[in-house]
Amino acid sequence: MSDKAHINFNDQTYELPVIEGSENEKAIDISKLRGESGLITIDPGFKNTGSTKSEITFLDGEKGILRYRGYSIEDLAEKSSFIEVSYLLIYGDLPTPEQLSDFENEIKLHTLVHEDIKKILEGFPSNAHPMGVLSSLVTSLTAFYPKSLDPNRSAEAVDRSIIRILAKMPTFAAWAYKNEVGHPVNYPDNNLDYCSNFLKMMFSLPSENYDIDPVVANALDKLLILHADHEQNCSTSTVRIVGSSHASLYASISAGINALWGPLHGGANQAVIEMLENIKKDGGDTKKWMAKAKDKDDPFRLMGFGHRVYKNFDPRAKIIKKAADDVLEKLGVNDPILDIAKGLEEEALRDQYFVDRKLYPNVDFYSGIIYRALGIPVEMFTVMFAIGRLPGWIAQWKEMRENNEPIGRPRQVYTGHNVRPYPNK
Ligand code: CMC
Repeated sequence: MSDKAHINFNDQTYELPVIEGSENEKAIDISKLRGESGLITIDPGFKNTGSTKSEITFLDGEKGILRYRGYSIEDLAEKSSFIEVSYLLIYGDLPTPEQLSDFENEIKLHTLVHEDIKKILEGFPSNAHPMGVLSSLVTSLTAFYPKSLDPNRSAEAVDRSIIRILAKMPTFAAWAYKNEVGHPVNYPDNNLDYCSNFLKMMFSLPSENYDIDPVVANALDKLLILHADHEQNCSTSTVRIVGSSHASLYASISAGINALWGPLHGGANQAVIEMLENIKKDGGDTKKWMAKAKDKDDPFRLMGFGHRVYKNFDPRAKIIKKAADDVLEKLGVNDPILDIAKGLEEEALRDQYFVDRKLYPNVDFYSGIIYRALGIPVEMFTVMFAIGRLPGWIAQWKEMRENNEPIGRPRQVYTGHNVRPYPNK
């Protein structure tokens, strides 16, 4: 098979190399095309553009495959822990028991945040969205650890920044919530595992004992694993492109949090619950909302449906749907919006509009229902996604730096005015 592609333009033929990935994906390397022909390629939304070569995550949207570092998402969700998966994503292989225990202990050493960060937190009004608070607190780490500003320092210094952000993210997330409800913040409890510590900081009150429910902690751990990486999506590409200017890890992650926030990306989990609530309030007529979703004059979309890459099924959604049933049953929660969600899914899977466009439930269609059952308020859902996606962002930032990738700087086709004289006044 040829490993070259050819472009014919203005009676000239340009030969372009074709590169191949380890799963036989092929890509035309156009990096020299402009220099040779003056042509650029255009692809709004980067729907068909590879921005990098990466060894971290493989996904096949047609077959519904997702693997981190070669391990299937199904195996990891069933057998691994979020911290182990974080190690795998960031360092490339599963840790030995000793490496895992060292990694966990290192993280526990850094869960506390500087007391002055509380003053920053107190400056936010209580109605501030916790995603905005989270991204601000993450950026504030650059002030408390100024050496982290230089990503070209030693590998040890970069590792310290990685451990710090992994350790402090649950503290920030829980504190953003406490600020919202006007309660005093809780300090980390390093006797607990990652998820249990987060749950305690989030939910415990000074006046009460807080017992960790293992069903809740395990469900949360599984959700975080399912969100941990998803190759070059909007927020991850943001992290890589911000980091490509040699901005620090904390600045890059903070940018990723903001990119995740939108309802077409991580914000979809909040939007799904709000949509299901609206349908319920409106009398539960799913057909009416399906019709709205299909009406091109109506901006409404069925949130939690469709995916840029998955065109058959989202493997994470399959695992989450089952987990939602398990968790609700174990916790004895009867949530009427689960029935609405299942009804909508059934209708959509039979509907020609959705079938033709290959629109299936994505990871966020059922994740919000689990978060709700765990007692997590709706505006915190995207924050949960950010905690989950953190190791993926770190791994992608680290890979981009280690590969010494050039600064991200796309081109454009200019369609504005030609030069015109400035008017005499
Ligand atoms: N409801 C109704 N129609 C839809 C939907 C939807 N949820 N999603 C896509 N379509 C239609 C769209 O109108 C278009 O129709 P047509 O070809 O007639 O113009 C066609 O399907 C293709 O859609 P697109 O917007 O070109 O596809 P995209 O790849 O640019 O967008 C998406 C992908 C996920 C942004 C989109 O499907 C969407 O907005 N879904 C709802 C939001 C959502 O659930 N986002 C979470 C994504 S998963 C979590 C994550 O990784 O961030």
